[in-house]
Amino acid sequence: MKIEWSHRLQQLPPYLFAEIDKQKSELRKKGIKFIDLSIGDPDILAPEKVIEAMYASAKVKENQKYALDQGKAVLRAAIKKWFKKRFDVSLDENKEILPLIGSKEGLVHLPLGLVNKGDYVIVPSPGYPGYRGAALFAGANIFEAALLEENNFLPDLDKIPVEVRNKTKIIYLNYPNNPTTALAPISFLNNVVKFCSKYGIILAYDNAYSELYFNDKPHSILEVKGAREVAIEFHSLSKTFCMTGFRVGWACGGSELVGTLLKVKTNVDSGIFCAVQDAARTALEKEGTYVRDLRKELKGRRDFFVENLAKIGLKNTFSESTFYVWTKLPRGIKSSIDFAKYLINEKRIIATPGVGFGKYGEGYIRFALTVKKDILKKAIDLLGAI
Ligand SMILES: Cc1ncc(COP(=O)(O)O)c(C=O)c1O
Repeated sequence: MKIEWSHRLQQLPPYLFAEIDKQKSELRKKGIKFIDLSIGDPDILAPEKVIEAMYASAKVKENQKYALDQGKAVLRAAIKKWFKKRFDVSLDENKEILPLIGSKEGLVHLPLGLVNKGDYVIVPSPGYPGYRGAALFAGANIFEAALLEENNFLPDLDKIPVEVRNKTKIIYLNYPNNPTTALAPISFLNNVVKFCSKYGIILAYDNAYSELYFNDKPHSILEVKGAREVAIEFHSLSKTFCMTGFRVGWACGGSELVGTLLKVKTNVDSGIFCAVQDAARTALEKEGTYVRDLRKELKGRRDFFVENLAKIGLKNTFSESTFYVWTKLPRGIKSSIDFAKYLINEKRIIATPGVGFGKYGEGYIRFALTVKKDILKKAIDLLGAI
C-alpha cells in the first residue's frame, strides 16, 4: 500500500539537521573522516552529580512509574529558586512553571493550543527550524521576520505589515540567538512586550541559551513589566548543563499560557522520566562552578576559532553568545548550500548553511564549536586559505 502523507506533513521542509545527519552517515559508510561543526550538541560531559542523582533515582520503583504531567514538585521548586536567583523574577511553582521533555517539545506543542487554521505565526529568519514546523503543524500561515546584521539581528517590528499583526497568534523570538549569536537589549524586549500587548500576540520567548554568554548577561522576558500577560518563556538544560540527550527543559510565564501548554501536553505525553527530573533538579540546585567553567571553555574555543578564521580570510563573524560562530560567506560566494558542500567535499568539515535557518540566513554559514580546541585547530588547518 502506498502511504500518503497528510497535507500537513507534505508541507514540511526536510528537517535541516536530519538532512545533515544523512550526509554524515554517507561519509561514515564510505569510511571518510570528517570534522563535525554542524549541530549544537556539546561534547562536554554533563555534571557528575547529575548522573549520580539520575542513577540513584532510577532504582526507586516510584520513579519508574508514569510521571505527573505537571512535573515533580521538587523540580518545579528548584526551577523557581534558580529563576529567582538568576533573573530576580518570582514564579509560582504550581501555576507558572511546567517541566518539558526538552524545550523543543514545548515550543512545538504550544501552537496546537493557541493557533487556528489561517492565523499567522511569526518566526525569526534566520531562526531555529522547530518554530516553522510547529506553525505548519498547527495550520498557521508563516511570516518570516528578518534578522538582519544592520539591525543587530533584531527583527524590525515596524516592518511587520499591519494585516499580519492583526492576524498573528504567536511570535517566536530567541535571544541569545541561534544562529546569529546576538543578544537582545532590555529596551528591545520592552518594545516587543508592548507590541504583543497592543496586537494581542503571544510571545514564545526561547531562552534555551540563557547561560551561554561571554559579556552581557542575557535577560528573561519575564523581567519586563506586563510580560506575564503575553509571554511564555522556554528554558533548556540541554545547553546549560550539556544534557541534550536527557530531554529536559521547562516553560514558565503567565498561568494561563502555561496552563494551555499543560492541557496540550496532557493529551500528548505522560510526563518526563522521574529520574531525568531528579537529574535536572540536581543540576539546578548543585550547579557549583559547572556553568562558569563551561562558559570559560567555550570562550577559549570561540576566541581561538574566530581569531584564526580571520587569519584565513573569514573576517565577518558574529560570536557574541551561544557556542556558534555565524560567519559571512567569503566574497564572491553567494550560496550557503554550495559553500557547505564545498566544505564537506574539499575540506571534510561539516557546517550548517545559513539558508537552512530561513531565507534571511542566506549569505552565512554556522559553525558549532562543540569540539575541543585541538579539533578546532585541525579544522582551521584544513580550511587553510579559503
Ligand atoms: C534556539 C533553540 N531553541 C530550542 C532548542 C531545543 O533544545 P532542547 O529541546 O534540547 O531543549 C534548540 C536546540 O538546538 C535551539 O537551538
